[in-house]
Amino acid sequence: MANRDPAAEQLQEYKKSSSKTQAITTAFGAPVDTKSASLTVGPHGPILLQDTTYLDEITHFDRERIPERVVHAKGAGAFGYFEVTHDVTKYTKACIFSQIGKRTDLFVRFSTTAGESGSADTVRNVRGFAIKFYTEEGIWDIVGNNTPTFFIRDPMLFPSFIHTQKRNPVTHLKDADMYWDFISLRPETTHQVLILFSDRGTPDGYRHMNGYGSHTFRLVNAKGEAFWCKFHFRTNQGIKNLPVEKANELASSDPDYGIHDLYNAIHTGNYPSWSLYIQVMTLEEAKTYKVNPFDLTKVWPQSDFPLIPVGKVVLNRNPSNYFADVEQAAFAPSHLIPGIEPSPDKILQGRLFAYGDAQRHRLGPNFLQLPVNCPYRVTVANQQRDGAQSYQNQGGAPNYYPNSFSGPSPSPSAKASPFELNGVVDRYETAGEDDFSQAKLFWKNVLKPDERTRLVNNLVNNLKSAVEFIQERAVKNFAQVDEELGARLRDGLQLTKKNKANL
Ligand code: NDP
Ligand code: HEM
Repeated sequence: MANRDPAAEQLQEYKKSSSKTQAITTAFGAPVDTKSASLTVGPHGPILLQDTTYLDEITHFDRERIPERVVHAKGAGAFGYFEVTHDVTKYTKACIFSQIGKRTDLFVRFSTTAGESGSADTVRNVRGFAIKFYTEEGIWDIVGNNTPTFFIRDPMLFPSFIHTQKRNPVTHLKDADMYWDFISLRPETTHQVLILFSDRGTPDGYRHMNGYGSHTFRLVNAKGEAFWCKFHFRTNQGIKNLPVEKANELASSDPDYGIHDLYNAIHTGNYPSWSLYIQVMTLEEAKTYKVNPFDLTKVWPQSDFPLIPVGKVVLNRNPSNYFADVEQAAFAPSHLIPGIEPSPDKILQGRLFAYGDAQRHRLGPNFLQLPVNCPYRVTVANQQRDGAQSYQNQGGAPNYYPNSFSGPSPSPSAKASPFELNGVVDRYETAGEDDFSQAKLFWKNVLKPDERTRLVNNLVNNLKSAVEFIQERAVKNFAQVDEELGARLRDGLQLTKKNKANL
């Protein structure tokens, strides 16, 4: 039918592809005689407890929803592959990069951050950019965003920061006071906030944005030499952002715009791709570099650490079932493979624990056995057993180590690179560690005049809803990025106040 896109045609396609109608069964496989009438005493009821068909249906329905992700609840996913185009084996022994031309299957999930799973795709939000690589040495996940930086430097602040974007506990409404109070009390958010309120805060779907691993990771090569590294996935579709008015309009006319756009592109063979680059810093350089290389509110300037090409990500297959593949996908920064290790970045360290913990709650203790999550190129062999819904329970292999019965044994070659640590154990505040210098570079050097104007308008239109003393504190912070930015925000807020008074 004309005007129907591939997503709208999904059921028609199913009909065409299935040769005959199957018999309905219960979940335990028994044939069902009718699916339109419950078993009742007479035509007007009541229903009998022996209506096992109804009970089978309703008990499963009652449990259909699992907890949505506490953040990044709304998302779209797709399968594809990674292909190595350049040799980076001098930096890492990670098997995924072992040879030019090598391909590794992957699954990607893009998301918005703050809204519930029914929220609109086009709202201003940092976008999640998570990739799961199914390597022959297990799962490697990059759980990144479409920005190279983040709002905070210490994971202790993360739950509070996220709460400011959730609903006010009394009104159940989004609350500008909560958000801007936190932002203005923690000026390390400034760099990320400027990026978020720039044009790139409303990307045109998920295909036209870059992805960043954001954190510094540690690469280790076959000789045991280590390097610090950042990952960049640059879109080959070109950066494209939605004008604010269009984003607002789509939020009501097509709230699933991002899912829609990705599904249709892949379905019609218009496979989106990203080029992977790394930035590399030696351990020696890191000791004296002007910026703390593990501070997630900052980037490594590309003039000092140029982008090194590595390979490409191509998405070429839509999920065959959204819930099974996308909703149940479980990405974790702790899913690392030999040759890629964590850095001391405090946010990364905090995340190494949080994801598996959330997923054991969201999906259960055996979430890694689900098809989308399981490291299917490896035979998982360990001493873990049982738990809810264990599907792959390792047969008769010994469930203890060491043992004398050919149970699995460790691989010394997988040993992580050693490193030295010393220091006094304490709680070190991270406030005030140069909150503005890179924000200034972004404002002054990266943005063009028209982009600066839109950034100011976007900030004013959001900040105006906060109470006045919070507005003033926020503007004071922005003025430390640049006097002109501060002045323009002050003027913009004055004007909205005047306009409101004249209404
Ligand atoms: P460069 O001039 O070498 O790089 C500027 C970078 O900014 C480019 O990657 C560009 O991406 C990106 N960019 C342009 N517009 C926006 C936007 N609205 N939001 C986010 N990124 C944007 O400068 P430096 O490396 O010295 O960095 C200067 C500033 O650029 C940083 O403080 C940071 O704010 C921003 N930036 C830096 C990145 C890095 O890894 N160094 C990455 C992304 C942003 P493109 O080339 O695709 O247009
Ligand atoms: C999702 C915690 C910072 C990117 C999540 C989830 C948790 C979490 C608990 C839900 C996981 C799940 O249920 O599957 C944290 C904590 C952080 C932090 C504690 C900081 C201390 C970041 C940063 C990034 C990021 C810095 C990006 C650079 C993502 C993405 C998802 C996610 C992309 C969604 C993954 C998916 O698509 O399933 N985070 N996060 N987070 N986080 Fe974070």
